[in-house]
Amino acid sequence: MKAAVLHNVGDERLEVRDDITTTPVGAGKVRIRIKATGVCHSDLSAMNGTIPVAVPAVLGHEGAGEVIEVGPGVTSLAEGDHVVVCWSPQCGACHDCVNGQPQLCMAYMINAFSDAHFQLGGNPMFGMAGAGTFAEELILLEQGAVRIDKDVPYDVASLLGCGVMTGVGAAINAARVEPGSSVVVFGCGGVGVSVIQGARIAGAATIVAVDMVDRKLEWAKQFGATHAVKPEDLAGVKQELTGGAGFDFGFEVVGRSETIKAAYDATRRGGTTVVVGVGRAEDMVSFSAFDLFYNEKNLRGTYYGSDNIRRDFPRLLDLWRGGRLDLEGMITRRLGLDDVNDAFASMAAGEVVRQVITFD
Ligand SMILES: NC(=O)c1ccc[n+]([C@@H]2O[C@H](COP(=O)([O-])OP(=O)(O)OC[C@H]3O[C@@H](n4cnc5c(N)ncnc54)[C@H](O)[C@@H]3O)[C@@H](O)[C@H]2O)c1
Ligand SMILES: [Zn+2]
Ligand SMILES: [Zn+2]
Repeated sequence: MKAAVLHNVGDERLEVRDDITTTPVGAGKVRIRIKATGVCHSDLSAMNGTIPVAVPAVLGHEGAGEVIEVGPGVTSLAEGDHVVVCWSPQCGACHDCVNGQPQLCMAYMINAFSDAHFQLGGNPMFGMAGAGTFAEELILLEQGAVRIDKDVPYDVASLLGCGVMTGVGAAINAARVEPGSSVVVFGCGGVGVSVIQGARIAGAATIVAVDMVDRKLEWAKQFGATHAVKPEDLAGVKQELTGGAGFDFGFEVVGRSETIKAAYDATRRGGTTVVVGVGRAEDMVSFSAFDLFYNEKNLRGTYYGSDNIRRDFPRLLDLWRGGRLDLEGMITRRLGLDDVNDAFASMAAGEVVRQVITFD
């Protein structure tokens, strides 16, 4: 079958091959025929070494498809089920799962680096984060496949798998954006636009989008931003909207120390700054010791939108069905797997919100 392979960290291109195979399905696992996969910035970050990946690897972690084979012992899924791929499955039984932070469940993390479900020339090959949705088929742990209703189009469903869950979850689960509050969002890609939608759903009165790219700012408004500015114009808008005090909630959705600091600085005293972007391990952010005390800001990260996957995927789909979460509009480009490298170029050039690769 066809799949897009990263041979070495640092490679600028994936190799699309048609001779990839998978292992047999195995106990507790399912085989999925991928129908659609979004292209997330984290795929690019796996290529450039920001996010660890065991190579060679099939990239892609934001997908949806159909269960075509079920391994021994699988109880929750059957052949023919439609599923969204979850790149960080939750066991439901560990300390984090039972204490209200299931997004931090590490029960299956080891599998992503120990179970190689793909094969290349007879050698084992990993899938990104235990997934690998840039492939016609993949093998997943049962816990990593979340069943959805069959009327949900696969392209729409695929977006839930990473960007939309992360962004909407950052606003609703992590920040707990309040009705009437003010919000600033740095970075208006697929994840940033999902933060904007989450803030709109939560009832924020003011949502300021920040990006360098004009077209991104137009899109941000389409998804609920009340104001959209270039980074250099933020100070003026902050002054105008908040009297200089800053926003109740600041979101960083880029993955760089400079924008993390900028989001923190744009947040008001006592407000909340959420780091959604994934930056490099060696990229250090510094804060004044006095500032941390004096301004009493809440600074936190969010992993996968601080999700509870089996609660949140159905909620996101309910919001979509109710016309309150625009998923179709986020898909600004559709392409085939052969054009995956072109997708990274378009993303880097700021020409798209989300691109979805579909398989016939
Ligand atoms: N927390 C998580 O679990 C999680 C999950 C998925 C993605 N992410 C991360 O979220 C980030 C965004 O992902 P995406 O797919 O939306 O990326 P994207 O490339 O589509 O969008 C990033 C946006 O940031 C803008 N940008 C770049 N530098 C900027 C700056 N200095 N100021 C303002 N805007 C700037 C770009 O123009 C672009 O519009 C990435 O770091 C990704 O790895 C995190
Ligand atoms: Zn767990
Ligand atoms: Zn992602």
